[in-house]
Amino acid sequence: MNSITLALTSLLFSLTSSLSVPSFTQAHFLSARSDSSPNPIATLYPNNVTGTINGTIAIVPISYQLARSIIPAKYGILREAYENQLPGFPGDSYPKILIYYPFVDLIGDGYSSFAYEPYILLSSENALAQQGALAYGEIPVPANFTPSLNAYAFESVDDDSQEIFLDAYTNLSSTHPAVTTQFKPTGSIGPWPFELQVLPTSEEPTFADGLSCDNQINLFNTALSTGKNAPVGVVGNIMVKAPYFATDTTFCDVYGIKVDIAFIENNLVPCSELKGYTSERSSEHYGAERSLDYKR
Ligand SMILES: *[C@@H]1O[C@H](CO)[C@@H](O)[C@H](O)[C@H]1NC(C)=O
Ligand SMILES: *[C@@H]1O[C@H](CO)[C@@H](O)[C@H](O)[C@H]1NC(C)=O
Ligand SMILES: *[C@@H]1O[C@H](CO)[C@@H](O)[C@H](O)[C@H]1NC(C)=O
Repeated sequence: MNSITLALTSLLFSLTSSLSVPSFTQAHFLSARSDSSPNPIATLYPNNVTGTINGTIAIVPISYQLARSIIPAKYGILREAYENQLPGFPGDSYPKILIYYPFVDLIGDGYSSFAYEPYILLSSENALAQQGALAYGEIPVPANFTPSLNAYAFESVDDDSQEIFLDAYTNLSSTHPAVTTQFKPTGSIGPWPFELQVLPTSEEPTFADGLSCDNQINLFNTALSTGKNAPVGVVGNIMVKAPYFATDTTFCDVYGIKVDIAFIENNLVPCSELKGYTSERSSEHYGAERSLDYKR
């Protein structure tokens, strides 16, 4: 989510994000666009790139076979890991996070989870971010987004219903979007777990070329994501055109959450140094810091 940023990590994430970049860091970036409360961790990690992303995370079930055909054959898929973490997820499905592919066994140890991200849709106005994506071997796709700033505001469509929309146009001279999303709030989060600390892709390093990884650590327990800012469950439809998905496809009744998160981003880390990076390991690792964030 990512934003989809730089990590932008995920298309759905990229739009409303703000960053704190240490002056000595050669990071690739997103111009700061903010529809978020102030970054609560900038002062905790003054020497790191930190930021916030106020967006929607959606987990799309696609057939395992299709995922297998998209993720390069040289990389395994950690099927058991996601089956364990997403009880109730449809059988024989793979949990795709628009527009990247989590639970990939990049370094072949049968354990460390990485997310494969071949394309990244970035604002056509942001040349820096486009260059940053190239450094990862990703294909940066200049795009225009509608609405451009308040992408995730809930908008009233009539008296008693609200929806959130986001469309991305990659052919800048066309009126046909490459990706459209529309979500509305549900009363609860689910039907599979979105427990934020174990959200499967929340901390998987993302890669495209398998050499340099983007290690973004998302913190879900700061004031941005708790109390009155607690995540809201959403359900909706996502349309993605090829080549951003295998074929032009509309996914219906996709479940997700709308949430604002704080993150720390470690850029261009050699993927091989991130061995052992699983959600369990990282929660242990960052548990102490997370509680610290929470207390502050
Ligand atoms: C902050 O950056 C340093 C230097 O790149 C890195 O070693 C450290 O792990 C980062 N901190 C976190 C919490 O990721
Ligand atoms: C996230 O954005 C929504 C509008 O989309 C806003 O209502 C909400 O307050 C923002 N969250 C935070 C923590 O700033
Ligand atoms: C972009 O859209 C224009 C107008 O619809 C069309 O003529 C052109 O072929 C499209 N370009 C690509 C690369 O799809």
